[in-house]
Order: sequence, then C-alpha cells, then structure tokens
Amino acid sequence: MNKRRLNVAMIGYGFMGRAHSNAFRQAGSFFDSPFELRLKTVCGRNRARLEEMASAWGWEEIATDWETVVSQPDIDIVDICTPNYLHAPIATAAAQAGKIVLCEKPLANSVEEAESMTAAARKVPTLVWFNYRRVPAVSLAKQLIARGRVGEVYHYRAVYLQSWGKDPRDPGAWRFDPVEAGSGVMGDLLSHSLDLATWLNGSVRRLCAQVHTFAEGRRVDDAVTVLVEFSNGSIGTFEASRFATGNLNRNAFEINGSLGALRFNLEEMNHLAFNDLGGDAAEQGWRRMLVTGPRHPYAEHFWPPGHVLGYEHTFICTLSDFLSALEKNERFHPDFADALEVQRLMKAVTESSTSRRWIDVSPSAVSVSQASGPI
Ligand SMILES: NC(=O)c1ccc[n+]([C@@H]2O[C@H](COP(=O)([O-])OP(=O)(O)OC[C@H]3O[C@@H](n4cnc5c(N)ncnc54)[C@H](O)[C@@H]3O)[C@@H](O)[C@H]2O)c1
Repeated sequence: MNKRRLNVAMIGYGFMGRAHSNAFRQAGSFFDSPFELRLKTVCGRNRARLEEMASAWGWEEIATDWETVVSQPDIDIVDICTPNYLHAPIATAAAQAGKIVLCEKPLANSVEEAESMTAAARKVPTLVWFNYRRVPAVSLAKQLIARGRVGEVYHYRAVYLQSWGKDPRDPGAWRFDPVEAGSGVMGDLLSHSLDLATWLNGSVRRLCAQVHTFAEGRRVDDAVTVLVEFSNGSIGTFEASRFATGNLNRNAFEINGSLGALRFNLEEMNHLAFNDLGGDAAEQGWRRMLVTGPRHPYAEHFWPPGHVLGYEHTFICTLSDFLSALEKNERFHPDFADALEVQRLMKAVTESSTSRRWIDVSPSAVSVSQASGPI
C-alpha cells in the first residue's frame, strides 16, 4: 500500500524531544498506519546540539527559528516540546498555517492562552501529550471501569511524587521560572493526575486546594494538595510534589468502588492491581495483574505476553492512536479542548489556595462523554 507521507517539524530537542523522536521513528513499525512519518526538521536554539540531535535520531534538517519552520509549506505536523510559555505562540502560528499540531502538556500558562489556542486550532487535528492514558495498565483500568467492574465509585486517590525539587541540578532552569513555566509542580505533575482522573472518573464539580513552596525565594509551587468532589458523587484527593523525598516518579492512583478497587503506580507500570469484590468473600484480595497480554490493551502490537514495556511505549501508543483517529477523520483524545479543561482545573486550584475556599468548577469542565474517547 502507498502510504501518505507526513513531514514532521519538532520544536525543542530536550527530554521530550528525544521521547517524541523515538515515537515518530517507532510508531509505523509497531502499528499499521496509512501514514509514513518523515522526520523533516528539528528546531532549537543551539546549532551544535541540533546537529547532534539530528544525527542521533535521523532528522533531515535543523533550524533555529521556529516562526519560519511552522509555516513552511512542506511541513504537515508541528510538534511542540519547548518550555510551556512557547506552547501558545507556536501552536497558534502552526494552526493558523493549517498544520496538524501536537503539543506537550500543560497546554498553556493560563486559561486565557489555552482558550485562544483551542480556538485557533479548532479546524486542525490536535494532540496533547498526556501520555499516561496509554500505559496499557491504565487503559485496562479504563476498560474495567467501563465494563462496570468497579461499580459506583466512592474514592479517587491520586499522587504524583518526585523529590528533585529539593536539590535541583540546575536551580535556574526554566521549570523554576514562573514566566517560562507558568507554574511549578501544578503544570508539571498535577496536570497529568487531573487528566487521568477526569478521563477515568469524569468531571470535577468542586475543589479545595493548598499550594505550597518550600524553597526559599522560589517563585513557583513545589507541592500541591487538592480535595475534590466529582460529578459522579465520588470524592477525591490529589497530592503532587517535587519535595516528596524518597520518591523518584511515583505517579499513582487508587479507585475504590462498590464492586471493585483498582491500584496503579507508574514505577511498576506493567502492573495493575484489582480487588474484585464479587464472589466468595473468603477469596477476595488484591490481584496484581501483569498487563502484557494476552487480550490487554496494545499487547498485540508489541511482544509476547510477559515481555514488559517501558516509558517510551506510552508515547508510541499515544502517537499511533492519534494517527488512527486521523485516518478515520475522528476526534482524538486528549486534544486541545480536553487539555483546556485541565487548565481550568489548575486555575481553580490556584484560586482556591489563594482565597482559602472551595471553588465550584464550571459545568463545562470535562464532560464524561469527552472523557470516554478512544483508548
Ligand atoms: N508528557 C510528559 O510526561 C512530559 C515530561 C516532561 C516534560 N514535558 C513537557 O515537555 C515540554 C518540554 O519539557 P522538557 O523536559 O523536554 O524540557 P527540556 O528543557 O529538556 O527541553 C526544552 C527544549 O526547548 C528548547 N527551546 C527553548 N526555547 C526555545 C526557543 N525559543 N525556540 C526553540 N526551542 C526552544 C530547548 O532548546 C530544549 O531543547 C514542557 O512543556 C514540559 O512540561 C512533558
């Protein structure tokens, strides 16, 4: 079959630039797709490092001016892996030039920016890299919830815990600059937990939050805790921190329902724990499933059962699902509109912490139908 070639331009070549480059190269090998992705242009600020990046990952050209790159006629997809403050101008310019836009999370530095980006991109396909939806174990959790195996949800409990904020290697890095990052742990880690929660458990009705900075003189948040009431009647707690000493990347959730309970931790990402409350009470207990097939999400695309996957596969699966939606002319989730809802929740978190009160979240925030997109 003749594949349709899509030329990719990627802006930013750091941590995410490498994760995305790998996904662009691997997706077509693991998943059938009518598209052939061509790694056309990698764009950044440092020529020597761009040359290294291009040679390591097979990018054809390098560029140092994103404004020229995003409007080039031979570019089909613009992928944004820059610090957060550049998401809005790059995405807006790319969308106005009619490009498909892939953007890292958080979508923007404010709700206003996110709204304007979403409006600018309403006629082009978009993707936001909330990649943890595509961990096979998390997708299996979604399937079990959809099949009614958890029943009525009582509790949604999420933590996203790292510790490097206490002794950062580069205290001047963009992640600590409120202008470049927009926020600290909120956009960095809490945004992932909010995206997963609204996808798995539906929209948030009200929330109450505490935002805290431990490091003296630091102008972004180091830790945040949130109490939540969901529209389905369940209650939730969220904790995100870069000062959670002893934790490297504990992105975890537990869901307790009337018929079953689920537990996931990214640090053991091939596993999902399920406590099925049906059947004989004497046989109930946590069952730790190795989610590598057979009949598990994405398993048929990779290795025989028991041959585990890693962090990079979450990006490959996200991109492949996006290409599949593109082929069918269907809306992909999470897109800009979904990420805008996460941005609204983060704004409510800030407002609640500042005003020390509960905040009602507008009913427009993440509908369950939006939350039930393809997995
Ligand atoms: N999905 C995830 O799990 C995940 C994980 C980490 C980071 N992120 C997000 O990815 C984005 C990038 O984070 P990172 O960790 O890769 O950062 P990074 O610091 O490793 O890389 C940032 C890149 O942006 C480039 N850049 C900065 N200013 C530029 C400009 N004016 N023009 C062109 N390029 C420019 C830098 O040269 C660098 O290559 C952020 O939005 C972050 O929140 C997402």
